[in-house]
Amino acid sequence: MLLLLPLLIVLQSPQVASQASAPISLPGCRNKCGNITVPYPFGFEPGCFREDFGLVCNESYSPPRLFISGYGYEITDISPKGELHISVAAKRACYNSSGGYISGTNTYIALGTSPYLLSLSNSLFAVGCPYKMNQGYFVDADGYYVSGCVSACRPTQSSLGGTNGSCTGVGCCESSIPSGLNFYEPASQNFGTATEETDPIILSNTTNCSYVFLADSNWFHFNNSYLLRTTDFMAPVAIDWAIRNVGNCSYASHNMTDFACRSANHDCHDSDNGAGYLCNCSKRYQGNPYITNGCKDINECEMKDEYPCFGDCTNTVGNYSCTCPRGTEGNAI
Ligand SMILES: *[C@@H]1O[C@H](CO)[C@@H](O)[C@H](O)[C@H]1NC(C)=O
Ligand SMILES: *[C@@H]1O[C@H](CO)[C@@H](O)[C@H](O)[C@H]1NC(C)=O
Ligand SMILES: *[C@@H]1O[C@H](CO)[C@@H](O)[C@H](O)[C@H]1NC(C)=O
Ligand SMILES: *[C@@H]1O[C@H](CO)[C@@H](O)[C@H](O)[C@H]1NC(C)=O
Ligand SMILES: *[C@@H]1O[C@H](CO)[C@@H](O)[C@H](O)[C@H]1NC(C)=O
Ligand SMILES: *[C@@H]1O[C@H](CO)[C@@H](O)[C@H](O)[C@H]1NC(C)=O
Ligand SMILES: *[C@@H]1O[C@H](CO)[C@@H](O)[C@H](O)[C@H]1NC(C)=O
Ligand SMILES: *[C@@H]1O[C@H](CO)[C@@H](O)[C@H](O)[C@H]1NC(C)=O
Ligand SMILES: *[C@@H]1O[C@H](CO)[C@@H](O)[C@H](O)[C@H]1NC(C)=O
Ligand SMILES: *[C@@H]1O[C@H](CO)[C@@H](O)[C@H](O)[C@H]1NC(C)=O
Ligand SMILES: *[C@@H]1O[C@H](CO)[C@@H](O)[C@H](O)[C@H]1NC(C)=O
Repeated sequence: MLLLLPLLIVLQSPQVASQASAPISLPGCRNKCGNITVPYPFGFEPGCFREDFGLVCNESYSPPRLFISGYGYEITDISPKGELHISVAAKRACYNSSGGYISGTNTYIALGTSPYLLSLSNSLFAVGCPYKMNQGYFVDADGYYVSGCVSACRPTQSSLGGTNGSCTGVGCCESSIPSGLNFYEPASQNFGTATEETDPIILSNTTNCSYVFLADSNWFHFNNSYLLRTTDFMAPVAIDWAIRNVGNCSYASHNMTDFACRSANHDCHDSDNGAGYLCNCSKRYQGNPYITNGCKDINECEMKDEYPCFGDCTNTVGNYSCTCPRGTEGNAI
């Protein structure tokens, strides 16, 4: 008996594991680049991705790094639900004490006619105030103003509540962005003077550098250490992806050869940022809807929190049954 027990545990564990395993990528394709999971329609090997979803996994880095093929932006994570993050430098501009420009970094995001658009989870942030007031903004591909805000500093930052972790216009400001954008180029403009000043309205401190950047607003938590900063940094920008070669689900399902929702038991829903659509597995199924047979039945009996059962639970395809144990009656759910 003592000898048999460990054997039983070993025999049982693979069964439990295989029940939950749904395919991530096409058969024979790698689904990891470093520690980043790459689900189909994405892929980085020939024949492993849908057109427009090719990535580059550069293994000359340790750990390997993932990039958007043809665009070069580095991907830090991919969600099958239609979002991913790229790492983009903040625009930096640094000045000396008399206001002379010393150094800086410029940047932009240009996504062309790709499946990628800037997500509404991003905000534009402007940090610092080299000339007391700093307007951070960005323009579209035609050079037209899109969104922006003004950051101004006060003599003592800590004297104002609410600046810790949030951008309220003191040392840091935040502006939301519109949908449908595939281009972003940040800019900044200074007001006031860098030198000692007794402006009756804004008696303020200055910072050596200003930063303007787009970032997922869940990521950025402003604190006063950013006002002392003089070096470059990268920020995660949220990107919405979708199947965009046709406008919506109803149109896409006319051409089953091209339709991206491959698995049975999928749902299709229209993109809420730009044209296109996304697929997900139906309720009670999980996995990758972009792969044939990618949506697998969920074993509800193993998920008692979501699917309660106080009796005998039996998993069925697409559902489960919950009955009172033999000899009892009542409501088992
Ligand atoms: C991947 O590794 C990096 C550092 O090596 C870490 O910061 C990041 O959180 C990891 N991502 C995942 C999804 O585990
Ligand atoms: C990987 O990165 C290195 C260093 O940046 C570069 O020289 C090389 O061309 C890249 N390889 C691929 C396949 O892109
Ligand atoms: C700002 O620049 C001045 C010189 O212009 C320098 O003395 C000071 O240390 C700098 N501050 C920071 C935080 O780097
Ligand atoms: C600041 O930089 C400008 C040129 O960018 C230079 O003319 C000026 O002398 C510098 N001032 C100081 C205090 O370094
Ligand atoms: C400006 O900030 C520095 C560092 O936080 C502080 O020592 C100094 O008193 C401030 N100046 C004014 C005018 O508030
Ligand atoms: C700001 O927030 C951090 C972490 O949330 C906390 O450690 C710090 O004490 C706060 N600073 C001030 C001035 O409230
Ligand atoms: C302020 O932000 C910097 C950069 O993200 C971080 O390293 C530091 O720990 C933060 N400080 C506080 C008090 O939260
Ligand atoms: C669906 O997309 C097609 C073009 O791809 C467009 O002609 C049609 O009007 C769209 N239908 C809806 C309901 O948006
Ligand atoms: C359906 O999609 C396939 C694959 O993209 C394409 O070759 C074909 O021309 C499309 N058929 C129609 C009727 O649009
Ligand atoms: C599928 O995606 C839509 C839109 O994001 C969402 O409302 C729905 O709950 C999802 N369905 C499942 C079963 O997750
Ligand atoms: C799932 O089973 C329950 C009873 O166990 C039933 O009430 C429900 O209608 C079933 N749902 C589907 C989608 O079949």
